[in-house]
Amino acid sequence: MMKSTDFIVARDDLRQCKVIETEVPDAAALPDGALLVGVTSFAFTANNITYAVLGDALKYWQLFPAPQGFGNVPVWGFGEVIASRHPDIAVGERLFGYFPMATHLVIEAADVTKRGLRDAAPHRQEGVAPVYNAYTRVSGDPAFTGRQGDYQALLRPLFMLSFLVDDYLAENEFFGARGVLLSSASSKTAFGLAHLLHLRKGIKVIGLTSASNVEFVKSLGCYDEVVTYDRVTSLPPDLPVAYVDMAGNSELRATLHGHFGDRMKYSGRVGLTHRASSMDEPALPGAKPAWFFAPDQIRKRAKEWGPGGIDTRFGAAWAGFVPMLDQWIAVTEGRGREAVKQVYLDTLNGRVAPEQGHILSLRE
Ligand SMILES: NC(=O)c1ccc[n+]([C@@H]2O[C@H](COP(=O)([O-])OP(=O)(O)OC[C@H]3O[C@@H](n4cnc5c(N)ncnc54)[C@H](OP(=O)(O)O)[C@@H]3O)[C@@H](O)[C@H]2O)c1
Repeated sequence: MMKSTDFIVARDDLRQCKVIETEVPDAAALPDGALLVGVTSFAFTANNITYAVLGDALKYWQLFPAPQGFGNVPVWGFGEVIASRHPDIAVGERLFGYFPMATHLVIEAADVTKRGLRDAAPHRQEGVAPVYNAYTRVSGDPAFTGRQGDYQALLRPLFMLSFLVDDYLAENEFFGARGVLLSSASSKTAFGLAHLLHLRKGIKVIGLTSASNVEFVKSLGCYDEVVTYDRVTSLPPDLPVAYVDMAGNSELRATLHGHFGDRMKYSGRVGLTHRASSMDEPALPGAKPAWFFAPDQIRKRAKEWGPGGIDTRFGAAWAGFVPMLDQWIAVTEGRGREAVKQVYLDTLNGRVAPEQGHILSLRE
């Protein structure tokens, strides 16, 4: 039996984490259609912590089973096929997609096309969005190799959200707003959105962030104004605004709604970086806060734009974004269990500088 090294966390206390070894089947013991994939590298950002926080509610824990009481946090990254029982997938192929924090994953390959495949494992089907089961075949693709590959793992899934929110707001003429407020403005998801909004002109892009991240957010050049959380009431209250919330901070939301009142034209929830959300928030003045649900916008645009319509437009947006990243992100590679644990805990505790892009591997 081969062994996989898995990094797991206690579901009810994310500060508790450990490394375990699990058994993976030998090549000869794989069922028909299955692939044994070695996880070569993955990105780790606050988004992964949100997957853990919402692990029960949104069924993320179900994707990569772990011992009772523990969960394996899903990550975006790369794998290499070590053994294949699928006639169309060769050993050595590279895949991009959703992986466990581990060294190995068995995928039950289905719907194999030239571009990708799907994991049809029964435990991954119920209640999980299809995007989490899709793997892209990226062997030899320069856009997924080296530093470009690191950017894909770090930012592509986040930038999809940025792209969809930009599209949604523009489609709705910003609900009458003339400015967009983004909390956790230093986050990758937020600055991806700020970059797209900035290109639209005519809409003021306002970043809200912590004092320690102000300089970074200003240096990006895609925010027209940057304000620290303790100064948000200094913003002119007569500006009609849309709020896109990456921080999920209930107190901040109440302050903003109270300050802008009826000029709060849209209030969309996207993230939970601050992990300071109260379960029952009181009714607030202005637009009613609601979660932005990406799959809804994807479904709508897939219908309206037809086959390939989203991919083409997203591809164009991505192509305009990637050239900025050499200046905006410093990729740091970490290998082995200690490095992974450190980055996990630092990210959990909000100790990662915003320009850091962590690419990890559990392979020693
Ligand atoms: N709904 C969706 O479909 C969807 C899709 C993509 C992303 N998101 C969400 O968007 C959020 C941003 O994700 P990301 O990966 O882009 O983040 P990231 O780049 O890792 O963001 C880091 C920033 O988040 C804030 N932060 C992180 N940890 C913190 C902590 N423990 N305490 C206080 N602040 C903390 C800080 O920003 P400030 O100092 O500026 O606050 C920090 O600079 C996540 O919650 C993610 O799940 C949601």
